[in-house]
Amino acid sequence: MVELIHWSDLHYGSSEFRKEYFDNVIDYINDKKPDAVVCTGDFTHHGRKIEYKNVSELLRQVKVPTLNVIGNHDAVNNGIVFFERYIAPRRSTLTLKEKDIFILGVRSPRDNTSEGELCDEQIEWMTQQLNKSNEKIKVLALHHHLVAVPSAGHKRGTLVDAGEALQLVQDYDISLVLQGHRHVPHAWCFGGSILLYCGTSTSEKVRADDNPCFNEISINNEKLEVYIVDSLTLERNLLIRQDRGKIKYLKPRNDRINHIINSRIFQNFV
Ligand SMILES: [Fe+2]
Repeated sequence: MVELIHWSDLHYGSSEFRKEYFDNVIDYINDKKPDAVVCTGDFTHHGRKIEYKNVSELLRQVKVPTLNVIGNHDAVNNGIVFFERYIAPRRSTLTLKEKDIFILGVRSPRDNTSEGELCDEQIEWMTQQLNKSNEKIKVLALHHHLVAVPSAGHKRGTLVDAGEALQLVQDYDISLVLQGHRHVPHAWCFGGSILLYCGTSTSEKVRADDNPCFNEISINNEKLEVYIVDSLTLERNLLIRQDRGKIKYLKPRNDRINHIINSRIFQNFV
């Protein structure tokens, strides 16, 4: 059994950052003691040195293995310099041999834009790492999306080279892709892989009716379960269960299509 916590989009330095949510998530992590914690970027809001210094001190409270990737907010103002100084390398791996799991973390943001791209050189590095790994469970972590999510707003959230990323997921039998960026908790099934998205874990920068939250993941042989955990109340809701190829997907929230269907605005045009 492998247990992971996936959190994202902390946005330290934003007026909407909430230390109370941060403390809740840290307490939850240190209480549950998962095998690893993965954060999919936007540790800071402006990529400033002081934000990195402060948030990295807070992150020292996490007492389990971690893998951290850079978000587009971290990369503005040449923030990658401070990301690498205070948080993690721009790309990294985490192997838990005894748990048979390999996690690959990559840089997706380009400097000073919201756009994401892996680029050819990094794809080559990813294939080298994947070829070297012998672990059964392979996980990819990045900030941007491989496939768009509903209610994600107008900004471009998918990678420029999302096609190549999906090809890698398929070719290397990656079980799980962890993503952040648009603050929408969600899951898509892509062949035998789960594309999992995390909301903002420690800020009020939510979309529509979503709450600040993080993902709790367990993988046991052929079974994978993901719960969305509310960062304020710590209430857990099952998002997706994959058991020997059978998938149960639960929609824990109203999406925009429901809103359109139920909206009285459009009824006058019928
Ligand atoms: Fe974000």
